[in-house]
Amino acid sequence: MNHVISIRDLGPETSKKLLQFSQLIQKNPANYSQSLKGKSILQFLIESSTRTRTSFESATRALGATSVGFSSGTSSLSKGESLFDTVQTLNQYGVHGVVIRHSYSGSAKQVAQWMSAAVINAGDGSHEHPTQALLDAFTLAQHWGSDLSQKAPFQGKCIGIVGDISNSRVARSNLHLLSMLGARVILIGPASMIPSDLSLFPKHEVSYLLDPVINQLDAIMMLRIQFERNSGISIPSAKEYRAFWGLTLEREKKLKPHAVILHPGPINRGIEIDPEVADCKKSLILKQVSNSVAVRMAVLHYAILGFPAEIHS
Ligand code: CP
Repeated sequence: MNHVISIRDLGPETSKKLLQFSQLIQKNPANYSQSLKGKSILQFLIESSTRTRTSFESATRALGATSVGFSSGTSSLSKGESLFDTVQTLNQYGVHGVVIRHSYSGSAKQVAQWMSAAVINAGDGSHEHPTQALLDAFTLAQHWGSDLSQKAPFQGKCIGIVGDISNSRVARSNLHLLSMLGARVILIGPASMIPSDLSLFPKHEVSYLLDPVINQLDAIMMLRIQFERNSGISIPSAKEYRAFWGLTLEREKKLKPHAVILHPGPINRGIEIDPEVADCKKSLILKQVSNSVAVRMAVLHYAILGFPAEIHS
């Protein structure tokens, strides 16, 4: 049993093996259709989700496992039951894996200490969203034809992560993973959205403006302005944010011809990205979604059974 809490904990070797395993699964999904037969996975997503929930449920079914649903709005959490009591109760059902999303940073690690099942972090507050980073890297590797058996498959690539870095679990997981894969990473955003102390993070650069660095990027990852996490108080207005940091149609023309655009979703069209740019040829946004099932199948398999022999060899 392996918990999947953060990219930092996974480290470069396991992260790369997960990407290689995702490739194998995507090539031959039928080979893994019974891998988790007889196992059950609790989808314990307490914060809203479309992509992560749907793809984890699809991945669970694609591996032959049973999905156990949990609806926070109609659960006894809404009657004031604590997370501890909820988790202790759910632990009695003997599930083999738990996919957790929660608004508190550190909640996934805490739940892993309370449950006997493998815990997979599907986003904990502003801490990490490891499976999002894995599917982002998988999508880039697929697009670039990167050899994931290399020590630094993204060597020579420059990736900009643009937006509210302080509140973004996607940025945190991606910064760790992209650095492990050898990419040059530039964190881009207003000073109010970039932590003043980034000394614990892997090597990276910071730019408080997008325009001076946009023509250096091989990939640009736009982050959502998370109004529910108070991103709004860090910027004068959505209009001003778009003017300086939004990927507008005008700015898209400044990208390298072969640069690609990512966004974890959901997107605020017309704020961090213009609608025409989100849907343009450079955009890999829907590819990220379609790749997510293979990546999450690899993660569920690793969490519950470990890697198959073909990945060890
Ligand atoms: N990227 C992501 O986590 O999307 P959802 O919130 O829709 O799951």
